[in-house]
Amino acid sequence: LGPTMSHRTRDDLRVGGVVVLTGAGISAEAGLPTFRDAGGLWEGHRPEEVATPKAWAADPELVWRFYQARRARLGAVQPGPAHHSLVQLETRCQRAGLAFTLVTQNVDDLHQRAGSTVLAMHGQLRRLRCESCGNAVQDADSLEPNRFVPCAACGWHALRPDVVWFGEVPHGLDRIEQALLECGVFLSIGTSGAVYPAAGLLSVARAAGARTIVNSLESPENLHPADDFRPGLASEVVPALVDELTADLRLP
Ligand code: APR
Repeated sequence: LGPTMSHRTRDDLRVGGVVVLTGAGISAEAGLPTFRDAGGLWEGHRPEEVATPKAWAADPELVWRFYQARRARLGAVQPGPAHHSLVQLETRCQRAGLAFTLVTQNVDDLHQRAGSTVLAMHGQLRRLRCESCGNAVQDADSLEPNRFVPCAACGWHALRPDVVWFGEVPHGLDRIEQALLECGVFLSIGTSGAVYPAAGLLSVARAAGARTIVNSLESPENLHPADDFRPGLASEVVPALVDELTADLRLP
């Protein structure tokens, strides 16, 4: 006997997994500033003053204040429609037995709070890390702007923000590469495509044969004519895209 119809149907669906990369644009409508847009975080700061290991060594108070201010804003914002619709996409892919990987460059926790499983390649604002004792990690409870937090494990006087700074290696690159090589659809949402290695994921997915769809307000730096560019607000474009993919991939 040949394969049954239900087997064939399931094989048809096995088009390769879905990989999503998000950037600051997906959280912009929630009220968190992006980096490179007008009014963005890098407008008032040079990145090397606050987001490098050298800056932390030279002026830890300045670096600490910058991240405390960003951390304080998290309490006042909520995940939006784009975050929520990516949770739906994850659930639908899981039901169909299709691999789904959400990678974010964002250090906010809006994907996590919406309910997504997410690989935070640039780390997380809400966490602190000890450089003195094997990188113990703990939650950032203190919001006093100028007070450093000592390490609960070894007593080191100042934990650092658990974020990936310029010149440091992002998290999960092996896992990300594996997911890209097996992906059939790649979505890039709200990123300017200016910072590598994250900006290179789009071309890796494209070269692996994935359908590549890009949402952003402005055309990102890494956009290629073969990409399907959907300009507009993530809160509008992403929910519509999720519906479209649900139909195209015949997700339950
Ligand atoms: N909907 C969709 N896209 C938006 C929206 C929105 N509402 N608002 C802004 N954008 C887009 C902008 O057009 C831009 O392309 O989001 C992108 C934001 O780009 P950046 O500010 O450069 O942010 P990002 O790409 O996430 O930065 C990458 O740079 O400084 C480092 O580590 C930091 O993770 C960060 C990395």
